[in-house]
Amino acid sequence: MELKRVMDRVYWLFDKRRTLVTLSAYGSNSVYGEKVFNVDGKIYREWIPYRSKFASAFYKGLNGVDIRDSYKVLYLGASSGTTVSHVSDIIGVTGQVYAVEIAEEMAVSLILLSEERRNIFPIVDDARKPENYSDYVPKCDLLYQDVAQRDQTEIFIKNAELFLKSGKIGIFAVKTRSIDVSMDPREVVRNETRKLREKFDIVREINLYPYQKDHSLLILRKK
Ligand SMILES: C[S@@+](CC[C@H](N)C(=O)[O-])C[C@H]1O[C@@H](n2cnc3c(N)ncnc32)[C@H](O)[C@@H]1O
Repeated sequence: MELKRVMDRVYWLFDKRRTLVTLSAYGSNSVYGEKVFNVDGKIYREWIPYRSKFASAFYKGLNGVDIRDSYKVLYLGASSGTTVSHVSDIIGVTGQVYAVEIAEEMAVSLILLSEERRNIFPIVDDARKPENYSDYVPKCDLLYQDVAQRDQTEIFIKNAELFLKSGKIGIFAVKTRSIDVSMDPREVVRNETRKLREKFDIVREINLYPYQKDHSLLILRKK
C-alpha cells in the first residue's frame, strides 16, 4: 500500500484502487462502517465519497483547502457525525469542531462520538439562530455547512458574519433541489453565488455528481 499526500492528514491510499483516507487522530475504531488501514503503524480511515460531500469534492478534483492542525471549525448540519469525524482527524487533538445539529435523534450519535473524540463539541440547536450558541462558539478558521434547507444561503451568511474570521474559508454544500425543484440546478447555484459575492470571494464551485445528486460544493473566502 502506498500513500500520496493530498493535504495535512488527508491522503490517497493506493492499493488495487485509489481510496481517500484521513490519518486518524483518535485510535483505530471505525466510526460509521468505513474501512480502517494500518500503514507502518499509523491508522488511516477511509473517507467515503458517497457518504460525505467533502470527500466527494476530492474525488472531483479538489486538491486541498485551508484546514489544518489546531484549527477551530464551525460545522452546521452535523447529522450523526460522519464528515465531522474526518474534520476531527484533520484538525487533530488540539483543534476544535463545533458541530451544530437540529435533529435530536441524529445528535445522539454525535454526542456519543464526542465522548471518544474530545475535539468535537456538539451543539443541538438551529443554525438559523446562531445567537443561541454565540456565547460558546469562538471566532473560527473554517465554516462548513451542509443543512439542505431552502434558506441555506441566508443561514450560511448569518453564521459567517458572526463566527468566520476575515480571509478564512467557508465550505458550503448547496443542495439545488432544496431551493427550487423546477429550476435548472446551474441556475440555482448562479443565483445563490450572486447573493454571496458581496461578502465572499468565490474560490471554486464543484459539482458533486455522480457521488452526490443535486449538490454543488462552494469554496468561499470571507472578504
Ligand atoms: C445532509 S445532512 C448532513 C450530513 C453531514 N453533513 C455529513 O456529511 O455527515 C443535513 C443535516 O442538517 C440538519 N439540519 C437541517 N436544518 C438544520 C438547521 N436549521 N440547523 C441545524 N441542523 C440542521 C439535518 O437535521 C441533517 O442532519
